[in-house]
Amino acid sequence: MSLILAIESSCDETAAAVYNTVTKTMLSNELYSQTEQHERYGGVVPEIAARSHLEKIDIIVALALERAGVTLKDIDCIGVTTNPGLSGSLLVGLSFAKALAWVLKKPLIGINHLEGHIFSLCVGPNRKFNETIQFPHLCLSASGGHTSMYKVTAFGEYELIGSTLDDAAGEAFDKIAKLMGHPYPGGPRIEKMAEAAGFKDYFNYPRTNPKLLKLNMSFSGLKTAILYDMVKRGFYDLKTGLTEEGKKPEVQNQIASSLLVAVADIFVDYVREALRIHPELTGLSFVGGVACNRYIIKRLEDYCLARKKFLVFPAREFCTDNAAMIAFVTSYKLAQNKFSPLTLDIF
Ligand code: KG4
Ligand code: ZN
Repeated sequence: MSLILAIESSCDETAAAVYNTVTKTMLSNELYSQTEQHERYGGVVPEIAARSHLEKIDIIVALALERAGVTLKDIDCIGVTTNPGLSGSLLVGLSFAKALAWVLKKPLIGINHLEGHIFSLCVGPNRKFNETIQFPHLCLSASGGHTSMYKVTAFGEYELIGSTLDDAAGEAFDKIAKLMGHPYPGGPRIEKMAEAAGFKDYFNYPRTNPKLLKLNMSFSGLKTAILYDMVKRGFYDLKTGLTEEGKKPEVQNQIASSLLVAVADIFVDYVREALRIHPELTGLSFVGGVACNRYIIKRLEDYCLARKKFLVFPAREFCTDNAAMIAFVTSYKLAQNKFSPLTLDIF
């Protein structure tokens, strides 16, 4: 077996990739992002997402095959994200993958999206398998749908050691950006605004305590605290929305900067506590959409350097949702003969 076709459609990205398990190379990694369709709603609208996947999935799969220089007949195994994610979105990808597997009479392997993110750093920037991954390591995975820490001991072997009890970190960026009148996704915008304000902490928003919460996090509290702080400072009116003062770019930049510094502080604190409890972990991997954030990477880098722990993070194209990470996970499940039946369902 050598060629894997992987499909990812758990949220708002329709993605397909082709991976050669012999040369350990990602031959293609194609993606259609629905961002523009959700922008004005300030977040992903599940119904719009599912319909859009339906319109694009065949085109994206065909493109992935074409860019890889192969045809459907060359494919030996199909990997597909089955959970977690938006039900309607997952169903489109899974139904498509099942139909292909049935018609081509090729094995099907269902993949957990979060496992995809954990091992996304195995696809190096040159699309070759990144041989430098060391185990056991700590993985901090942060995106718009989840924020968790795992102890990763081998390919496919990982243990959840802490997770958000409510909102994800990326969701906090998205929601605060929306509150300030900016479109989805808010993370990249928050980073730009924070940079303009010098990555300084102006408003000292509250941080959760990893010891008190036993490595669990909470970003919903941070979001509410920021809202009430904005009300207190006259930046936001609960009845009418942003005030003239709250619309000022310099004020917004300071809010974004304080939020980003708070999240970075929280991450460093949680990593410190996780490594204290699990001293056997040799380093840190930082994955998920939020791992696109250069400021947070710098803060984690400074910490890891001081503690003599390694830090790895994927290339940007593999931080946000993509099918390459699903293809990689499929490759080691295939080697372990972990196939799924055609009755495979989401969740
Ligand atoms: O992994 P991802 O593409 O999708 C989910 O599985 O959720 O992550 C998207 C999330 C969004 O919340 C977005 O605001 C955030 O990642 N994000 C960022 C940055 N780029 C994307 N957050 C902070 N800084 C960024 N530069
Ligand atoms: Zn994701």
